[in-house]
Parts: sequence; structure tokens; C-alpha cells
Amino acid sequence: MDGAKFAELRIDGKAFNFPIIIGSEGEKAIDISNLRKETGYITLDPSFANTGACCSEITYIDGERGILRYRGIPIEELAEKRLFIEVAYLLLHGNLPDENQYKQFSILLNEHSLLHEDMRHLFDGFPRGSHPMHIMSTMLNSMATFYPNVDTLSLSEDIDVTATRLISTFRTMAAFAYKKSIGQPPVYPRPDLTYCANFLNMMFDSPVNPYTIDAEIVEVMNLLFILYADHEQNCSTTTVRTIGSAQVNLYATISAGVSALSGPLHGGANQAVIEMLSKIRSGGYSVDQFIEMAKNKNNPVKLMGFGHRVYKNYDPRAKIIKEATVRILKKLDIKDTLLDIAMELESKALSDSYFVERKLYPNVDFYSGILYRALGFPTNMFTVLFALGRLPGWIAHWKEMVSDKNSKIVRPRQIYTGRTLTHLK
Ligand code: SDX
Repeated sequence: MDGAKFAELRIDGKAFNFPIIIGSEGEKAIDISNLRKETGYITLDPSFANTGACCSEITYIDGERGILRYRGIPIEELAEKRLFIEVAYLLLHGNLPDENQYKQFSILLNEHSLLHEDMRHLFDGFPRGSHPMHIMSTMLNSMATFYPNVDTLSLSEDIDVTATRLISTFRTMAAFAYKKSIGQPPVYPRPDLTYCANFLNMMFDSPVNPYTIDAEIVEVMNLLFILYADHEQNCSTTTVRTIGSAQVNLYATISAGVSALSGPLHGGANQAVIEMLSKIRSGGYSVDQFIEMAKNKNNPVKLMGFGHRVYKNYDPRAKIIKEATVRILKKLDIKDTLLDIAMELESKALSDSYFVERKLYPNVDFYSGILYRALGFPTNMFTVLFALGRLPGWIAHWKEMVSDKNSKIVRPRQIYTGRTLTHLK
């Protein structure tokens, strides 16, 4: 980074100079680390839309051009040519695994694919119909009571074992949560299956109805997890970095990320899109009526799966998922009218000045739910699938924060606007 340039800030006629940071893709920032010390002022940027929380080498997004790269590699190439666990390794370690690293990582993932048997009984405590995201964040937190904890002071080899355990066990936990929710016995992981094939088998196999593993379905599962694997400083990743900065153990830190992701404005949007499309299909509203409602400021309704804090262009992930959705529905000979409604919504919104002027395009969640439905997942599992994909990204950012010796506990300032000094009578 080139820190040779400075930005001048003039306050009450006095000039203050602050270093300009230029990232490897030309992004520019003013380093205000000493602003309050030098000027007595702080900045105010409530949702941090203009504030960089850190420098990072993991993921690059160009929102204006719709670019997404993991460790410099375009998402389109990774989605087309690599497996999810190769991309997980890339995010965690900075490079794609060579043959030996891939083999070792696979062996560790298999070793850690079982859930601690005592943890299975925790599922019995949840009321029938509990949302799987609430179950997953609780179960993740409980891992700190079953396994050795790692935090920001731990050795890197312990961190890597824990990261691998999380990536593998979380997948088993998700499948167990689903089986529990439908009253079926859990299906255990198999050492002969790859990461995604194992997940599909644990989700859909049963003693009386064996699941047939289809290579193309496994491939599209890899693609979906890769597309969700990281997205730089989004809400849930910022949550992970924030919680982790307090030296909280990694399980509790990831549990907080799962909770942040469950919000309908964030990872919960893929479930909210299906609920929105289903309302339109059931005759609640026409597509035109729904679009008018979403444009109406007095109406809390939003066009779910549309818009993004960073992308002011088509989300590159949405393009790939839309194509995969059409391809898989054709392969499975599924006619899902929700897809027709989604495409009509997209077409009409992208020709409506409200959305065009605000640069609102389909995001990663607009089509993913339709594809998940076609693969047999229930709607309430969609955000769990998002979390499964995002897990390596969360851990990679936590590791990056841990390895930054200048990293401090996250503690923003505020501007107090409440009552001035008031004494008790
Ligand atoms: C994810 O950050 C990430 O990287 C997240 C994510 C990841 O991989 O981690 O990409 C995953 O969370 C994707 C987003 C999923 N959420 C949704 O699809 C929910 C619907 N989208 C909106 O709630 C909204 O677009 C957000 C929350 C995604 C972004 O909110 P912002 O940053 O506040 O939106 P904005 O500043 O771009 O809004 C500009 C204008 C506003 O209107 P005006 O005040 O200018 O008149 O556009 C309006 C907004 O009200 N607007 C919408 C809209 N999104 C923004 N109006 C109707 N429908 C929408 N969906």
C-alpha cells in the first residue's frame, strides 16, 4: 500500500494532514487513526457505509463493476473449476491446496465430521418447529463445552484443527437439525463421500428410502457453497471480527456470525424471497402491485433479493445462480411457477426508474431459494445453507484479525445527544 500521499483537513483555519492509503486494486482511504488525538473530532458514519474497518487480503469486491474475487481469483473461475473445500482452503490459507494439502485437509475434514454423541441429545431440548438458524447458533456455542477452545492467543495449528472441525461438524449438525425437525433418525457422515455428497446424503438419505447421489447435484451444491463462501466486510463477517476482537473463543464467535446472518436483510433474505414470491403466486398481489408497494416509502415492504450495500450492478453471484437454477430445474423436469414470477419481477424492476436510478439489482439471494427448493431443501434451511457456505470466510477473516498484531478490541465512539447534566432532586 502507498501511504506517501496525505489528505488535508482544515478545521477553524488550522490544517491537519492524514495519510492516504491506496489498496492493491486502487481503492483509496484516508487513515484517520489519529484524528481525535490531533483534532479532538471524531467522524460519524452510522452504518459504516463510508468507513473501512480494516485492510484485508481475502476478498475483493468492485460494486460498481460487479466484480468478486477470492484471493485475487474471479468467482466465475472458482465456481466453474473448483470444489468448495478447495475454495475453503484458499480462503483460510491464502492459496489453493496442492495435491498433498488437499489430501491432508480431506482426511482432517473426515476425522472431524462426526458430532460429539452427547451433543446429539441437545437437539431434544428444542421445541418442535424451532428455526434451524436458532438451533445452529446454540449448538455452535455449545461446541465450546465439548471441544478445546481456541481464541486470539491460540497456536496456529490448534486454530487450523478447530477451523476444520467447524467446517465439517457444522455440516453434520445442519443435517442432524433437519432430520430432527422431520422426525427422522440422523444419517451419519460417510468416509467414502466428498464434502457436498456427504451433506446431501446426510440430509436426504433414510433407512427406508435410500438417497441416490447425482454428480450434477453435488456439483451445483459445490457451486452454491463457493458463491456464498466470503464477501469481505458484510454484516455477519463484521460481527465475527468484532466479537473475535474481544478474545472470545472461535465457536462463540462463529455462533454470533450465524445470528447476524439470520436477519432477513442479510442471509435471511433467501427465505424471505420465497415467502415474497409465494405471496404473489397465492394471489395476494400481482407483480406490478408488489413492485409499487416496494417503491412506496410508507410501506415497509422491500423487493427481497434486490439491492445491495456494495453492488450497484448485477451481483455476479446472482448471474451464476440464475443460470444454474434454470439448468437444474430443466434437468429435474421441475416447473416452478416461482421462477416465472421471479423472472417477471426482475424484468419489470430493471425497467422501472425507481430501481434503475437507485442501482438496485438482483443479489445473491434472489434466485438461490428457488434452486434450493428444487434440490429438496425446505425454506427454513436456506439460511443454514448460506451459513455453511460462509463459514470458511468468517474463519478466514477471524484468522486475519488474529494475525494482525495491531488488532485491538473493536470499540467505536459516539456523539452524545441526550440530556445534559441533571442532578437528582
Ligand atoms: C446479503 O453486505 C453483503 O455483502 C451481504 C451479502 C453477503 O454475501 O454477505 O451480499 C448477502 O445480505 C445480500 C442482501 C440480502 N438482502 C435483501 O435482499 C433484502 C432486500 N434488500 C434491501 O433491504 C437493501 O437493498 C439492503 C439491505 C441489501 C441494502 O440496504 P441499503 O444499503 O440501505 O440500501 P441502499 O442504501 O442501496 O438503498 C438505496 C435506496 C433507498 O431508497 P431512498 O432512501 O434512496 O429513496 O434504495 C432503496 C432504499 O430504501 N432500496 C430498496 C431496496 N433496497 C434498497 N427499495 C425497495 N426494495 C429493496 N430491496
